[in-house]
Amino acid sequence: MTDKNYGDGTRAVRAGLPDPVKYEPTLPGPVFAAHFHLPGEPTGGYAYGRDENPTWTHLERAIGELEAPGEQGVETLVFASGMAAISAVLLSQLRTGDVVVVPTDGYQALPLLHEQLRAYGIEVRTAPTGGDGQLAVLEGARLLWIETPSNPGLDVCDIRRLVREAHAAGALVAVDNTLATPLGQRPLELGADFSVASDTKGMTGHGDILLGHVSCRDPERAAEVRRWRKVVGAIPGPMEAWLAHRSLATLQLRIDRQCSTALALAQTLAGRADVTGLRYPGLPDDPSHTVAARQMRRFGSVVSFELADRKRADRFLEELRIVDDATSFGGVRSTAERRGRWGGDAVAEGFIRFSVGAEDPEDLIADVLRALDEAGS
Ligand SMILES: Cc1ncc(COP(=O)(O)O)c(C=O)c1O
Repeated sequence: MTDKNYGDGTRAVRAGLPDPVKYEPTLPGPVFAAHFHLPGEPTGGYAYGRDENPTWTHLERAIGELEAPGEQGVETLVFASGMAAISAVLLSQLRTGDVVVVPTDGYQALPLLHEQLRAYGIEVRTAPTGGDGQLAVLEGARLLWIETPSNPGLDVCDIRRLVREAHAAGALVAVDNTLATPLGQRPLELGADFSVASDTKGMTGHGDILLGHVSCRDPERAAEVRRWRKVVGAIPGPMEAWLAHRSLATLQLRIDRQCSTALALAQTLAGRADVTGLRYPGLPDDPSHTVAARQMRRFGSVVSFELADRKRADRFLEELRIVDDATSFGGVRSTAERRGRWGGDAVAEGFIRFSVGAEDPEDLIADVLRALDEAGS
């Protein structure tokens, strides 16, 4: 385990590495195995590839070290995608008759899960992320699910405060930490019971794999999530797990670059008359900034804003040269999209979610300014 006093960069490059063994690689390659040699009684260790895999073990240790530096006993489980990780927490923790509180403004596939939960006789209450609106609907809840910053609106809620109130009301708290990554925010340290993320985004950062994880301090809860993974089989392939671990080594480099360019882009956009509804939690006058600054160490790579209408937004996207019109976010190549095209988010037709990559900031900002000018001409 890496020293808890190390900086984020040192931890990112060393996290999850096994002890050095002469003639062995630093990070062992992916282990492709459906089953492992298992003579006699199965007494622990690797047996079957749906339950455990050595490549996952290294990655799970690495993510655990980032989620809770220096802390023993935090268990991390990796999944085939962020949705698999989210479903594993919700469906392993909730029973018929339970109440769950979820965001009105979270990731747009969450409502599909609400339907599933309701079909199982679970009451789903919704509350907006901003302003800690969850407090008003907490009574009797078994689980509070928060996503902060929220995707795509970038509202932020006060994790410490919500955890305090939720625990007092007898509810567990799970935080979708996808936008922040553990370098931006560590939900377990803020008191949450589960830190959950789509590692498809900033954690792995190259837009080439799908992955998710759940980190959890309570061994019983972790065992329930583990059991769910075994039952449903939503497991990552060894190649994906290995690529993810390899990508974590550059997490701090990528995130620092992306966050500082995101702030520079947001500051530039703030001066444009054709841009409205600008949101970036790192901007000092953003409505989320005060709470974000209390609990986040980096403010993320996503900037949201609105252009006048759908036509202007589409034109802007077409004019961009070094930004791909694509969904998802957090990757080293900048992407942007008109979120309204999906129909799932409560956003204006001209709403753009812009994911800042690792390009040179001057090039990126120049491209955006040129595309804005072209879109308005
Ligand atoms: C905040 C958030 N959580 C979860 C997910 C789902 O992750 P995945 O696509 O890896 O299943 C996404 C995907 O965009 C997301 O933005």
